[in-house]
Amino acid sequence: MENALLLCVFMSHWHFLNALFTVDVPQPQYIVEYGSNVTMECRFRVNGQLKLHDLSVIWEKKEEHTKEVYKLHKGKENFNNQHSSYAGRVKLFKDKLQFGQSMLQVTNVKPTDAGTYLCLIGYEGADYKTITLQVKAPYRNITKRTVIVQRTAVHNEWELTCQSKGYPKAEIIWHNGEHQDFSDKANTSYETGTDQLYSVTSVLKTNTSINETFHCIFWNKEFKENTSAILIIPGNPPNQHCGGRRDLGWQEPTARSARCCSGIPTAGSSQPGSLR
Ligand SMILES: *[C@@H]1O[C@H](CO)[C@@H](O)[C@H](O)[C@H]1NC(C)=O
Ligand SMILES: *[C@@H]1O[C@H](CO)[C@@H](O)[C@H](O)[C@H]1NC(C)=O
Ligand SMILES: *[C@@H]1O[C@H](CO)[C@@H](O)[C@H](O)[C@H]1NC(C)=O
Ligand SMILES: *[C@@H]1O[C@H](CO)[C@@H](O)[C@H](O)[C@H]1NC(C)=O
Ligand SMILES: *[C@@H]1O[C@H](CO)[C@@H](O)[C@H](O)[C@H]1NC(C)=O
Ligand SMILES: *[C@@H]1O[C@H](CO)[C@@H](O)[C@H](O)[C@H]1NC(C)=O
Repeated sequence: MENALLLCVFMSHWHFLNALFTVDVPQPQYIVEYGSNVTMECRFRVNGQLKLHDLSVIWEKKEEHTKEVYKLHKGKENFNNQHSSYAGRVKLFKDKLQFGQSMLQVTNVKPTDAGTYLCLIGYEGADYKTITLQVKAPYRNITKRTVIVQRTAVHNEWELTCQSKGYPKAEIIWHNGEHQDFSDKANTSYETGTDQLYSVTSVLKTNTSINETFHCIFWNKEFKENTSAILIIPGNPPNQHCGGRRDLGWQEPTARSARCCSGIPTAGSSQPGSLR
């Protein structure tokens, strides 16, 4: 509000001096990965030497209650009203002002930084433009698990799990090697942590046989991005020696599980109670 007022003051003050003063944005939209840095830019015209004490620059985030991100008032930086969520995370490249560039760096970008930003400039007139910032965290690291739940003569019942973290919320699609859709049969849960990311866990219970493959796809609709993992139903279902739950344990994204409980016999292994 205060800055809107300031803009009004800029406007009325400079209105008759220079109605043609404009702010431009070379890039109206930025898509940034979680945890990285972004430098947003808007431009204004400087004729000759910059008169810094005549320059005011304000960056704010448009929300129900506008958040002040950065303020330079008549050449002097002022952090008094800066919103706490930006404290220590923003920097204006002052050496660029002489070229008419208002370049604001935001470090360690978080999902809550996403939204619309206003770049206001008061110089030989006043104007502002908006820039949108989108934040994404791809679901790159998918942890998978295959657990046998029940043995039957033909098809054992398996519980397949895929888990990953990202932003925004992803939809989980399951299909088998024949591209049959199993998504309806899966149970997907979402949790958010202090890092503002979604921790997504999807569990599919299915009766299936050795060497069948299943794919879990993390579908990030907003960014039209998919990441996926393949789960292969192992042969030699694990024995009970490793514990009643016959858990294969969490598998690393790339490595096939080859631990005690995997049921994959390793050379020279002769544990008592080994399967068959
Ligand atoms: C982000 O900027 C900070 C401060 O300038 C720097 O220390 C850090 O290495 C940068 N991070 C990335 C991912 O570029
Ligand atoms: C992948 O996720 C697992 C489990 O959450 C974690 O232990 C591992 O360090 C992660 N790997 C990478 C490369 O982030
Ligand atoms: C999904 O998981 C929840 C919580 O574990 C459980 O209450 C619910 O019955 C499950 N739904 C299905 C279809 O398995
Ligand atoms: C698997 O088959 C068993 C026995 O036919 C049945 O009781 C169970 O409900 C099936 N499980 C699933 C997930 O379809
Ligand atoms: C499963 O695949 C392995 C390796 O490709 C193969 O040796 C084995 O015969 C297959 N088992 C069945 C039951 O298809
Ligand atoms: C992602 O996967 C979904 C579901 O399988 C599909 O509908 C969509 O077209 C895929 N999008 C991309 C960009 O691959």
